[in-house]
Amino acid sequence: MGINYSGQHDTSIAIVSPDGKPVFAVSLERISRKKQDGRLPTPLLEGIPWDRIAKVAISVSEIYTPPGENYVSKIHPLPLVKSNEQVHLHPPEFLSVFDDIPCEKIFVPHHLSHAASSFWGSGYTDALCLVYDGSMSNESWFGGVYQASITNGIIPFDQFNKLHYANITSLYTAVTAVLGFTPLKHEGKITGLAAYGQPNSACRALFEQWLTKPELIDGLMQWHAAYDKHIAPALTVYPPVRNSLIKQFASFSREDMAATVQEMAELHVLDILKNMQLQGLPKKNICLSGGLFANVKINQRVAEFGFENVFIAPAMTDDGTALGAAWQVASSFPSFRPRKLDSTYLGPSVSKPDSLNIIEKLDIKYSNSSHCAKDIASMLASDKIVAICTGASEFGPRALGNRSILAPATNNNVNQTLNARLDRTEFMPFAPIIRAEDADEYFNILESERYACQFMTITVDCSEKAQQDCPAVVHVDRTARPQLVSQETNPLVYLVLGEYKKLTGKMALVNTSFNIHEEPIVCSADDAFRGFFEAGLDCLYIEDVGIIELADNSAVQISYLCSKIKSLSTSLAGASSDAKARIDELNLSSHHWFTVAQAQAQQMDELKQSSHHWKTATEQLHRELQSIYASKSWQITSPLRKVMLTVKQVLGVKPK
Ligand SMILES: [Fe+2]
Repeated sequence: MGINYSGQHDTSIAIVSPDGKPVFAVSLERISRKKQDGRLPTPLLEGIPWDRIAKVAISVSEIYTPPGENYVSKIHPLPLVKSNEQVHLHPPEFLSVFDDIPCEKIFVPHHLSHAASSFWGSGYTDALCLVYDGSMSNESWFGGVYQASITNGIIPFDQFNKLHYANITSLYTAVTAVLGFTPLKHEGKITGLAAYGQPNSACRALFEQWLTKPELIDGLMQWHAAYDKHIAPALTVYPPVRNSLIKQFASFSREDMAATVQEMAELHVLDILKNMQLQGLPKKNICLSGGLFANVKINQRVAEFGFENVFIAPAMTDDGTALGAAWQVASSFPSFRPRKLDSTYLGPSVSKPDSLNIIEKLDIKYSNSSHCAKDIASMLASDKIVAICTGASEFGPRALGNRSILAPATNNNVNQTLNARLDRTEFMPFAPIIRAEDADEYFNILESERYACQFMTITVDCSEKAQQDCPAVVHVDRTARPQLVSQETNPLVYLVLGEYKKLTGKMALVNTSFNIHEEPIVCSADDAFRGFFEAGLDCLYIEDVGIIELADNSAVQISYLCSKIKSLSTSLAGASSDAKARIDELNLSSHHWFTVAQAQAQQMDELKQSSHHWKTATEQLHRELQSIYASKSWQITSPLRKVMLTVKQVLGVKPK
């Protein structure tokens, strides 16, 4: 079993069998319903049959190892102007999180785990793994190039040291924050926005400075890591720094800023690929992983560079490292037989009794027939929007047909309609889903990209026919990021697409994740019903149950909406009482400091008074002494007595 846990984001677990077959994988966010949840993995570990787990692989180094003298990269093209001094380490309490795990624990370096998450699922006999992320505590690196083969395993060839090299992922995240989006969450919006702008050389000059002198954007964002079950980690943006950075870009549109950073990221990756060639590395199979490769446009550039095959880890961000670490440890088992990852359906499944329970409790009307696929296709053909909740949920950021919303792609308006219903803002059009055998009609898919297209991790160019038949899924730059399905990978969606083609002649549908505004993709039947009724979609298909139409269940929808409003008002009340408590705390605290200040002022007064007293006494003594020295008969006791008297007076009123 692999665990990804960093006290920051994307907590996840994954289980592989001793022969390397993935058995189960889920991110905490799908269970806790908090996006990118980075809290403790405890809820995911409940009920684990520990007696059946051989080893636990944790996807980060146990202790930090400095990069040593050999940090100079043969491949990364951009050293920092001034080396970064700051090393991020996990605090000691990080390790105590794993104390209760009753199995042998093996720490697998984070970037090796990323590399493993792509290679061991690629089906290649040998490959290069390119890893690039935003870096990680306890690690010296933010990526690198690994040589991987089934016979020799995964061996680092060149690593990118975070103390000495510029990190394009961090720049992309910083630009996301400066443009007012949520860093580490909305980078995809920047990729979509980029197609509406033009790269700008003056803007690039500023971004290049940030890239090689990251101290220029110090303080823009800060991670508040947490290693406690009650506190959620958070990445915050500091508005004063953001505002001062925004001023530097007053003359550029946000579209041009997005286009500039996107172009920089693509060119940076191409420079890395060129340097790999210069090092004599083969241009055959390449596996990509790490947060940078969530960027579907960069992945298209890698494919166009000319590799024979490109595979992107479907869970390319940190949650995927749980699977990578598990695979990496299992790769030393004699029974290990790596194979092509055929799907990401590795998460929790919906259960028929759970679904029927909800249906009964809420008196939901539904229909069940032996030709659900036909019925779904006919609804889509009459411009309805259908949510699907079937089988195991997907592992990774994309919904690939088991927790998806399907809609007709024939009309551009569907983008506005769907975004409005799902309460989303997107600059990228929705992605198409299509049967593998129809894909070439609509998309110019390179052979090297075909496998990646099963997982919606890469953009491809669209044909004229695609623009005519399904404009809703074609971006302004005439690309799309399709998902290709077959009878084997997703029988239900495959059948729906076939029936839809028969009815309309069109081959692609919109496929977007089944979730509403900023929530994680639905996981359980309960999530699915809630999402369906709250978003007001036309139809919901639940596995083993059938089709639920919104039109037949308006009373149930009203009750869902009422409970949503109730929960919103409760959380508003909670937020307002939190705010009040905070104000009280501040009042108390300001009262405390006021009292302290008053006490200090009083002490200052006392000090002033006593210093005045001592000054007067000193002057008096001085005068007395002068008069004694001036006296010709200073031996006479009278002046001495005067001095003694003065000293006594002074001592008698000595301040406390
Ligand atoms: Fe990572």
